[in-house]
Amino acid sequence: MRIIITGGTGLVGNYLSRLLEDEDVVIVSRRDFDIASFSSVKGLFYRIKPDVVFHLAAFTDVDKSEENPVCAFKTNVNGTNNIAMMADRLKSYVVYISTDFVFDGKKNSPYRENDTALPLSLYGKTKLEGERIIENTCKQYCILRTSRVFGKNGRNFASTLPLRIKKREKITITTDLINSPTYARDLARALFEISRKRFQGILNFCNSGWCSWYEFGLYICRYYDIDSSLLVPVNISNFHNSIAPRPVFSALDTSLFARFFFRPRPWQDALKEFLKQEIS
Ligand SMILES: NC(=O)c1ccc[n+]([C@@H]2O[C@H](COP(=O)([O-])OP(=O)(O)OC[C@H]3O[C@@H](n4cnc5c(N)ncnc54)[C@H](OP(=O)(O)O)[C@@H]3O)[C@@H](O)[C@H]2O)c1
Repeated sequence: MRIIITGGTGLVGNYLSRLLEDEDVVIVSRRDFDIASFSSVKGLFYRIKPDVVFHLAAFTDVDKSEENPVCAFKTNVNGTNNIAMMADRLKSYVVYISTDFVFDGKKNSPYRENDTALPLSLYGKTKLEGERIIENTCKQYCILRTSRVFGKNGRNFASTLPLRIKKREKITITTDLINSPTYARDLARALFEISRKRFQGILNFCNSGWCSWYEFGLYICRYYDIDSSLLVPVNISNFHNSIAPRPVFSALDTSLFARFFFRPRPWQDALKEFLKQEIS
């Protein structure tokens, strides 16, 4: 089986590449070429003729997307369109990763796959547009929505928080943005299982349960036995580092995923394993 992973050098891509190291995998990132270039994507697909494409590459900085909408749109929409067109042409099965940020966060209970998507941020809008492109262009696909991914070498807040806490940095952290943390290792396994079964349609995947960023930080402080007063709790309205509007409650309901695959473990168990095994 020939596999392409776009965004293979990113947080999720790293875990997935390691999981698939015995397979015939080609990993591409921005260093190889821009997915927004159709001729580059076309060349890659005709060279590899992939059976499966994990399309992970994206402009993932939520705040920078507001400042630089053209770049976010080019990668997340035009890039996804190029991948979708070539995958359909070569009859490849596509797994596309999307986000809880496609929801407005006003539901008060975990979002199901068929809930109405109403993104607040430009990033969320471009990822939703990507979903629509995949649905409308590809015959064989899965759209996997996930949230707050953490793992080793990740550049995002969830991944860098443990090291910042260990360095006893003072960190301003929100108490009122709630979603489900997801360990990239568990997510990689979910992606792999989905591709083996060729699941068709939309699925949610995250670790079970949900928490605020503050609770996530408190768990890390407790794990290292570090005084949690270095975490400065604030409401999102007082958090000036954030530019993009975000959903206040965007936990994802994973019961559909659990019915076809496996039951995701609680976020606390996954985070504990990450801290123990990957953060020394
Ligand atoms: N992290 C989260 O919390 C989260 C939550 C929900 C959904 N997601 C989705 O999950 C996927 C993976 O996220 P991640 O956290 O692993 O992302 P990441 O660490 O930011 O990595 C992004 C990857 O995409 C590549 N890339 C970016 N722009 C590109 C372009 N124009 N052409 C080719 N490659 C490009 C990057 O290449 P370089 O390394 O060369 O820059 C990198 O390999 C994304 O689709 C994201 O929207 C993530």
